[in-house]
Amino acid sequence: MGEIASIIMAMIETPSWSRLSELAATACEINISSLIDKPRLDRYSLTVDQLYADFSKHLVTDEILESLTTLAVDTDVIGKAVSMRAGQKINVTENRAVLHTALRSPESAPSDFVNHAQSQNERMGEMSDAIRQGKWRGQTDKLFTDVINIGIGGSDLGPKMVCEALREFADGPNVHFISNVDGAEILSLLKQLNAESTLFVICSKTFTTAETMLNASTAMKWLSDQLGIDEPASSKHCIAITASPDTAGDFGVPDRQILTFDETVGGRYSLWSTLGFSISLAAGQEHFQALLDGAAVMDDHFTTAPPEENLPLTLALLGIWYNNFLGAQSQAVIPYCERLSLFVDYLQQMDMESNGKSTSVTDTTVDYETGPIIWGQTGTNGQHAFFQLLHQGTKLVPIDFIGTVTDRLSNPEHHRMLNANMIAQAEALMLGRSSDDPHRHYAGNRPSTVLLLDELTPKTLGMLIALYEHKVFCQGVIWSINSFDQWGVELGKVLTNGILEGSTDHDASTNRLLKKTGLNR
Ligand code: F6P
Repeated sequence: MGEIASIIMAMIETPSWSRLSELAATACEINISSLIDKPRLDRYSLTVDQLYADFSKHLVTDEILESLTTLAVDTDVIGKAVSMRAGQKINVTENRAVLHTALRSPESAPSDFVNHAQSQNERMGEMSDAIRQGKWRGQTDKLFTDVINIGIGGSDLGPKMVCEALREFADGPNVHFISNVDGAEILSLLKQLNAESTLFVICSKTFTTAETMLNASTAMKWLSDQLGIDEPASSKHCIAITASPDTAGDFGVPDRQILTFDETVGGRYSLWSTLGFSISLAAGQEHFQALLDGAAVMDDHFTTAPPEENLPLTLALLGIWYNNFLGAQSQAVIPYCERLSLFVDYLQQMDMESNGKSTSVTDTTVDYETGPIIWGQTGTNGQHAFFQLLHQGTKLVPIDFIGTVTDRLSNPEHHRMLNANMIAQAEALMLGRSSDDPHRHYAGNRPSTVLLLDELTPKTLGMLIALYEHKVFCQGVIWSINSFDQWGVELGKVLTNGILEGSTDHDASTNRLLKKTGLNR
């Protein structure tokens, strides 16, 4: 850990940090709308391939943005990204490299990782084609019409979000997702399906996650009952995706039905690996590859663009400004595209499990803010729910709006109205409106970014996801935290196991709750 830690200049020791603290003291004097003109827009907007970003409506001046950029240079953010891609063990608490980007941008990654990933990707394509073309069929020779992806966290949120976002391209079997251990979900779904034409894809990096293993067992029992087979996990109805193939083998899945990925691919970053199998089943391997190619475009931009023209870095720095200097607690993300309705759920894990930490890579407790609360939902729905607070509430909430220039699944009438709403919200938040009636007064000066994709395709979706991955990476580096472990989720798992095993050593409140729910009589 020492070597990694020593090359990081602690953020709060940099001169840029001190300067930003001074600038923050007078930030309340910034009036965004009075600053906006064409030259500012030219400086405060970027186009990366088919993605345009307008960040002119932010509470920043040129000097603030320059100081933020200097902070990134001082903390060597891009240098760390290059180290990550080269396979340096930047996940210091687990002594691992972090190689998810090599799944789409293999240049400079260790060759053993790349060779394994490429051969698994090829197998995944072959298996996906066989299932989609009806060459791989069920026990009774029926085509697979339905696929159930069983997994949780990163083994669910990424593939589920992408399948929903790429609905326009889906021409394979229906893909369903079961994550929660709430039995009502899997049992209700199974009631609607025919076992003869249902394929299970059990996704778990570790193949030990309690929720997934219970759901998988329930699924196997159902298969066994419905099809009259003794070893359902080895039947053609079951495929496992994991970084722990031996454990999947112990569950009964034969090698020929196991796709693997390397342990250096974190769960919340795993949709680019074979863990994205359900995406390939739904939309085809070609579209899965286009998703990877889109991410590679953003990877290339991120590691080669100069800091002041670097989009993921710029979004990260704006987030740092609000989070560490202006006291914002949260970041809202509002896609104006219903097919991106799961994007915020996905981002919540990717950002908050990565940067919701209070111990630095040098083992000290940080005395500054780290990861924000990520929240939001699609517009225009959100406008009729929580936008009241965004326009007139007391909280500072920077917002990312995400829209598309065209949408082939929509029509001009709907799409015009959708985009008019998005652009109007960003304008209204910034401009506000004075009124003599205090209830009708909008203070304005509220910051937002607008991200515009030409249209929602596998490529642009890949770019968008990678944009946020890199943003989260930059922030983690600047905060000197390890964005790639997740120790904070362990304690709850241990206590759950204790309760299930009948532990009695609890406080009065916990004991009564256990009694009321019949867990401890
Ligand atoms: O509990 C959190 C977590 O470890 C996530 O990081 C991960 O994505 C999820 O559980 C599922 O883990 P697995 O893929 O090993 O089942």
